[in-house]
Amino acid sequence: EKGGYPHYMLKEIMEQPRVLFETYTGLVSSREVEEAAKLIAEAGSVFVTGAGTSFHAGLVFAYYMSRIAGKPVIPFISSEYAVFKNIDHTGSVLIAISQSGETIDTLQALRGFRASGGRVVAVSNVVGSTIPRESDIAVYTRAGPEIGVAATKTFLTQVLTLSMIALATALYSGSLTKSEYREATERLKDAGRAASTGINRSIRQVELLASSLRNKTNIYVLGRGLGVPLSYEAALKIKEVSYLHAEAYPAGESKHGPIALVEKDFPVVFVATPPEAELLEKIQSNVMEMKSRGASTILVGTSSYLELEGVDFAIDVGSFDEILAPYALVPPLQLLAYRLAVVLGRDPDKPRNLAKTVTVE
Ligand code: M6R
Repeated sequence: EKGGYPHYMLKEIMEQPRVLFETYTGLVSSREVEEAAKLIAEAGSVFVTGAGTSFHAGLVFAYYMSRIAGKPVIPFISSEYAVFKNIDHTGSVLIAISQSGETIDTLQALRGFRASGGRVVAVSNVVGSTIPRESDIAVYTRAGPEIGVAATKTFLTQVLTLSMIALATALYSGSLTKSEYREATERLKDAGRAASTGINRSIRQVELLASSLRNKTNIYVLGRGLGVPLSYEAALKIKEVSYLHAEAYPAGESKHGPIALVEKDFPVVFVATPPEAELLEKIQSNVMEMKSRGASTILVGTSSYLELEGVDFAIDVGSFDEILAPYALVPPLQLLAYRLAVVLGRDPDKPRNLAKTVTVE
């Protein structure tokens, strides 16, 4: 039932082109997306929450909401809801993201938020699970069952779903015209194709990279803008399945402490996302800072970053804009985590100490 693959994790990474297309088709004229967008467009404050990978999808949502819909979103990790507990949430909306729909921390946050007057939109992969049942509006991803403990295909289907909600919100709030909205939504039809491109362009190189990293103990993953949540997600995936210590930071933050650890051959992965012109120069100087300490610099980026100097190993996922870049960039990072687990003899489907769904606080 692993479809000929040695592990569910690999099977699920490879399924992304298909499930992204299915999620797109299921949502493209969905009433739930429309209702969620209206609620969000009219909300006083907008919050987004989740745990682990779902939280990272929430950070991508916050990014798109401010860039495209011009509306700030407050992200928080669901186990930290207490920070907002004493606030009256009347007129506010919380987007609660949970693949399983059963994560207790996220459920508690949504209960608390509703009890203090707020409305909740759930984004989940499991129809009829507790989180969507207890929410005002439920929007479902169509990733199909995910067996591997590491969230892979569910992450990108969450990102796609949240992007559609962000675009629809931009339409209701007047930040996008009807034709701009239609054009952007239409582009998301190619999310699955972007994932195939990312996979095909990286699959060989990722194997080489994984064997060169196998004896390392620490890895940094750095990004800027949209690259920040994607870096967090890459580091989580590497940690969880390979047990190597991978840590992600916004690249600009590395100077404020983390760079102290960098010495000869310390691996630093840069996740480089559009918009290129704004970021290229800044990422270039971050690469040089690392390089001058002897770091081994790795780039996973869209094509225009190929001109960066000081990169030891580059994976070019192709040319994509801000809307499509995550679908091309994330699969190579997931494949890297998977390959590291395999070369180190770990079982990527069942990492030690972890459960697929965390139902105790
Ligand atoms: O089912 P959920 O999306 O609520 O689960 C949240 C996290 O437990 C989950 O994403 C976890 O971080 C994954 N194992 C990451 O790969």
